[in-house]
Amino acid sequence: MYPVEILGPRLVLRDYRIDDAEEFHALLVHPRRVPGPLEIAAPTVDMVVAELTLRQTAAQEPDRKDYQLAMTLDGRIIGSCSLSGFEPRHFRAELGYMVHPDLHGHGYASEAARLMVRFGLGELGLHRIEATTAPDNAASQRVLEKIGMSYEGLARHHVLVGGHTWRDSLRYAILATDPMP
Ligand SMILES: CC(C)(COP(=O)(O)OP(=O)(O)OC[C@H]1O[C@@H](n2cnc3c(N)ncnc32)[C@H](O)[C@@H]1OP(=O)(O)O)[C@@H](O)C(=O)NCCC(=O)NCCS
Repeated sequence: MYPVEILGPRLVLRDYRIDDAEEFHALLVHPRRVPGPLEIAAPTVDMVVAELTLRQTAAQEPDRKDYQLAMTLDGRIIGSCSLSGFEPRHFRAELGYMVHPDLHGHGYASEAARLMVRFGLGELGLHRIEATTAPDNAASQRVLEKIGMSYEGLARHHVLVGGHTWRDSLRYAILATDPMP
């Protein structure tokens, strides 16, 4: 499905465009944003253009497997929300999100995550959406609980941070048969 646009009470989740590169780059390199363990720490604008170009091409494949959407508020990009890691045979994918450091605590991640879960379990016909978070990421755990995901356990040494430190993850999931968030 491309292009995707999901309308929420305040947010619009939509596919990235190549001309988002400068705005998205500014968010990625914000001094108070902590990059995820699998991210390049300080991408250049050219790297972001290349990444968005790859994503746009992949998104137009008939069996699209990755929904990395811009989280926009009044037309500005304030974060990202994704469904990735698709396992089509098992109707399963993984939820992710991040919000601009100046805009935490306004319910934006919860709104975006809820919209994405409804989209995945609804339009995309998934049966299960999973999420993982670091044990010290209380805000993310709260987001997952607020949208009705269930805690399923601790995955030991799930992520290798910086190539040298193993980190555990908390695992959450929601099923299509659970109450819709
Ligand atoms: C996690 C993140 C996306 C949350 O975004 P957000 O828009 O602030 O989230 P929301 O406002 O929707 O909800 C946050 C909830 O966590 C709570 N919270 C925040 N910090 C907390 C803390 N230290 N301890 C306990 N609860 C906390 C908030 O009070 C709120 O709950 P409430 O609505 O019941 O009051 C944001 O902090 C972020 O971008 N972090 C960096 C990227 C990241 O960690 N992504 C998730 C990877 S799994």
